[in-house]
Amino acid sequence: MKTEILRCDSANALEFAVARAVELLRAGETVALPTETVYGLAADALNADAALKIFEAKERPRFDPLIVHLPNREMLARVASVDAVNSKLMSALVDRFWPGPLTLVLPRTPAVPDVVTAGLDTVAVRVSAHPVFSRIAAAFGSPLAAPSANRFGRISPTSAEHVRRELEGRIPLVIDAGPTQHGIESTIVAARNGSLELLRPGPITGEQLRAFADVCIGEAQSRPQAPGQLPSHYAPRTPLVLGSPLLSSENQAQRIGALSWRGTDSRGFAEIRVLSPSGDLREAAANLFRCLRELDDAKLDLIVAEHVPEGGLGSAIMDRLRRASSSDALDTPARSL
Ligand code: TXA
Ligand code: MG
Repeated sequence: MKTEILRCDSANALEFAVARAVELLRAGETVALPTETVYGLAADALNADAALKIFEAKERPRFDPLIVHLPNREMLARVASVDAVNSKLMSALVDRFWPGPLTLVLPRTPAVPDVVTAGLDTVAVRVSAHPVFSRIAAAFGSPLAAPSANRFGRISPTSAEHVRRELEGRIPLVIDAGPTQHGIESTIVAARNGSLELLRPGPITGEQLRAFADVCIGEAQSRPQAPGQLPSHYAPRTPLVLGSPLLSSENQAQRIGALSWRGTDSRGFAEIRVLSPSGDLREAAANLFRCLRELDDAKLDLIVAEHVPEGGLGSAIMDRLRRASSSDALDTPARSL
């Protein structure tokens, strides 16, 4: 299959791209689209055959459910129902954070095909704030299933070029609207008797959610509800360890790359990528997956990723780094090599 890439760099180009994307989606095909978090691989969420093509292109196991993206919040009732206990909380979150990078896990309606929810009785939903995604979702007029547009287990794409490298030849179209804003995937929460279970940390932080309800952290390892919670996710091919970017002499023979938080003390590395010289967590999140891909391409023996400060977005970044890390000591404090 030839993969077409359409850029949205003029008003005419945008019109053309929207029309072509909608045409393919209506025909039951997959299309890679920009969102404000990462690029997604979209298909008609209410068409089981179309959704199945997402799993095939990504080589995603069928047990891993997809996020359903609505064109607007009014469509929520078509795919999900909210029980009385949680309805006030869910409405408050929707009012505050939609459109935006918050995914809600809610009881599903029968309209959603089993393949989309992987047979679960819940469905994950959000409304994207990306202008191009919104245009396409509105023109399509129906929910779109869209996981991140990478092969299963790999780093999520934050540019159309990343998507091309992951899925070229497997999907008919990539819509290119430049790099994504947040750079990490949406926050996922489920309501549990009036409180919130954080299933995946993301751009909407635990602190922001705590203004609405008690928040508990999903039990990832013991009970993986979301395969995005599995430890070995978002992995570069090069081994990655968490540590402090100090080189000792016994490592000099190896080509070691550094993923540095602010760029201090990273002398002696074969390659260095700095997440945010000014120490801005938002900038760091936006750069994270691009920097990881660049280091992964640099023919290194090892990548050392420096800790970023925990709390707020820092926790979402550390979550991704821990999953990318090949060391078993996922939660050990910073150590130097
Ligand atoms: O920012 C994002 O969320 C991006 C963009 C494209 O919207 N999408 C994304 O999708 O990251 P994906 O499939 O890569 O990650 C979705 C996660 C998976 O870990 C999946 O297991 C979880 O959401 N998920 C989906 N439905 C679920 C459900 N009913 N209950 C619990 N987890 C669910
Ligand atoms: Mg993903």
